[in-house]
Parts: sequence; C-alpha cells; structure tokens
Amino acid sequence: MVWRGERPIVGVMTIDAPSPSIFDIAWPSFAYHDVTDPDEAHDTIGRARRRAPIAMGPYGPEVLSYDLVRTVLRDSRLTMPRGMSLVVQGITSGPLWDKVCQTLMCVDTAQHHRLRRLVSRAFTPRVADRMRTACVDVISKLVDRHTAAGRCDMVHDIARQYPVRIICALLGAPQEDWQLFSRWADDISKAFGTNVAAEESAILRAWGRLDAYLEDLIARRRQALGDDLISELIRVEDDGDRLTHDELVNLVAILLNAGSDTTRNQLAAAVQALSDHPGQWALLAEHPELAPQAVEELMRHSPIVFAAIRVATTDVDLGGVRVPAGACVVANTAAANRDPGSTTIPIASTSPARARHRC
Ligand code: HEM
Repeated sequence: MVWRGERPIVGVMTIDAPSPSIFDIAWPSFAYHDVTDPDEAHDTIGRARRRAPIAMGPYGPEVLSYDLVRTVLRDSRLTMPRGMSLVVQGITSGPLWDKVCQTLMCVDTAQHHRLRRLVSRAFTPRVADRMRTACVDVISKLVDRHTAAGRCDMVHDIARQYPVRIICALLGAPQEDWQLFSRWADDISKAFGTNVAAEESAILRAWGRLDAYLEDLIARRRQALGDDLISELIRVEDDGDRLTHDELVNLVAILLNAGSDTTRNQLAAAVQALSDHPGQWALLAEHPELAPQAVEELMRHSPIVFAAIRVATTDVDLGGVRVPAGACVVANTAAANRDPGSTTIPIASTSPARARHRC
C-alpha cells in the first residue's frame, strides 16, 4: 500500500476491513538524526509532516501530526519499551541493557506506580522549599560572577553548571563535586542516545563510578539522616513498603542523569532562542510573570528532546492503521509541536501521558 499524499488511503476503507499494518504502507522516509543544526532538523521534519502524518525514520515509523502524537502519548497500550532506545538499535541483552532496564522509565507498570508513590512521599513541601531556595542561590551565584564583565559563555559558565549544582543540593552532595557528576552525566546520557554500541564501555565505566559514589553517600546518610532528598528517600515508607537499597541507588542515579543533560541543554537552547528573538527577551524582562508560559513556549519552539519511543503491548489502531503488538513507534513531539494543522498549545502542557511520565 502506498501513501498518496493528500488523504490517507486508510480513509477510504470500509468499516469492517481490518486496518492495514503501519508497515504495509509506503510512508515517505526521512532522516534528521545526525543533523547538528536544529533548524535543519526542524525543516526536514516539517517537510515530512506536510507530506504525511507518519514517516519512516531509521528506527521505524515516526508519528508526526499533533493529533496522532497526542493519541500515541495518551494510549496506555503504547508504553515505554524495555531498554528504551536500545531496542531499536538491536541491543537486547548485556550489562548496559541490564542497567537501563533497572531505571524508573523501564520497570513494569506496577513497579513504576509503586516507585512513583514512594518517591512522591519524599518530595515533601520542606524539600520543595529547600529546592526553590537552592535554585535561586545557584543561579544568582553563577550570574553574579559575570555581571561586572557584562558577558559570559552561556553554555560553559551557566547552563553546564546550573542543573548539576542543583542536583548536588537536592542530594546533599558537596557542591565541589558538581564536575564529577557532570562528567559522569556526559557519558551516562549516551545510553539514551543512538550510538550506544560504540559508547558502551565509556557509559558503563561512568555508571559504575556514579553507583560507587552513591553507595558511599547513601551509607553515610544512613548513619546520620539529614534534610536532603536521599535522607527523605531512606525515611519514606508507604503502608509498610520501603525502597530497597538497589532501588534507592538506581533512583538517585536516574535523577542525576535525567535531570542534568536535559536541563543544561534546554537552558542553553532557550537562551539561544531568546537571543534570536530579542523582542521576546525584552518582553520577558519587562514582565517576569510571563516566565511559566515562556518556558512552555521555548520548549515547544526549541526542544532538546525531539521524540518519545513507545511499544505496542497489543495491536493498536492508530488513525486507521494498525500498530502490531510488539512494534515500536516514535512519537515525534518536535513535529507535533510545530504542526500548524491542529493547535498551538504545546504538547508538554497538555498530554496526560506526559503527566504520567512527568519529571
Ligand atoms: C528541561 C529539562 C528536561 C527535559 C526536556 C526533560 C524531558 C523528559 C521527557 C521527554 C521525559 C519523558 C520520556 C518519555 O516518556 O518518553 C522525561 C522523563 C523523566 N524525567 Fe525529565 N526532563 C527534564 C528535566 C528533568 C529533571 C530536572 C529531572 C530530575 C531531577 C528529570 C527526571 C525525569 C525522570 C525521573 C523521568 C522518568 C519519569 C517516569 O518514568 O516516571 N527530568 N523527561
């Protein structure tokens, strides 16, 4: 079956006919994954979306229209695949597979709910208040160093340091260890990229060092609990249920990894977008109360995460095509968030699925 451009062929099928498999349709193909210029990547993705709501990328079908992406992210039959992006790179066993499968994102639904419930108990108002203070404190110190000069290297001087220093504060780790965390996060984040086979030994080495550091930090906290997140996670109990030692280490490691590379890149991308649109920056400076909407809009316009991968746990009908059980689809949120055909509301603020996976 061929995608003919204007209307999906599936739109003319009778109601009783079984939906064609997503793999039976000759969707246009595209590749943007190695492109380093975000504008070029958005152009390629935009051209593909104007041709069809689905395109075939190097890792399988990518859903591009806002409506279909929203459907994918809201459908509980489409879940995060075990091993995340390792699966589409053909990696399904080995030490790195085992590490990734232990992360919060990969555990099964029941365990996911259990861990989220326990962790949410540790995020007490007291911890949240401390974090607000820490955020203001960290960014003020980083910016103050450069106010006299009136300029700085945004990536090196601010974005790279900001999230890791905050995570140090969250965990109660010494601030001077931020560079250690930052280097480990550099390597571990490659486990969620697309060149894993080539990077495996660097990833495992960094992950091993981080685990050893956390084992030590947690052992010391058990001797003397404080008011940091690790202490709260040790204290937390829900109906007699507690986090095991390994769960605690894995959770803290994933907080560092998920929170560092994302935030430092997104912060830099946001400042780049504001520099390209000085009128918007001036407006924000005049009206700081617009900051929450500005964050949403900057993440819609200049995202650093372009896609979410999902696997069908059963046959799923997606706008008239069937995603067979076991198949992976990529929800291309970058495409959806720039889809003029539906809505201008950023997906990040509207999808309950995102809310389920919220950071
Ligand atoms: C601007 C910065 C960030 C971006 C762009 C971002 C992006 C994302 C995305 C897209 C997902 C969902 C992945 C999926 O469902 O396919 C996710 C999940 C997650 N993020 Fe973030 N994130 C950011 C900051 C953070 C921070 C600061 C933390 C923690 C300190 C964090 C921790 C997590 C965790 C633990 C998950 C998994 C949640 C779960 O499965 O229950 N993220 N993030």
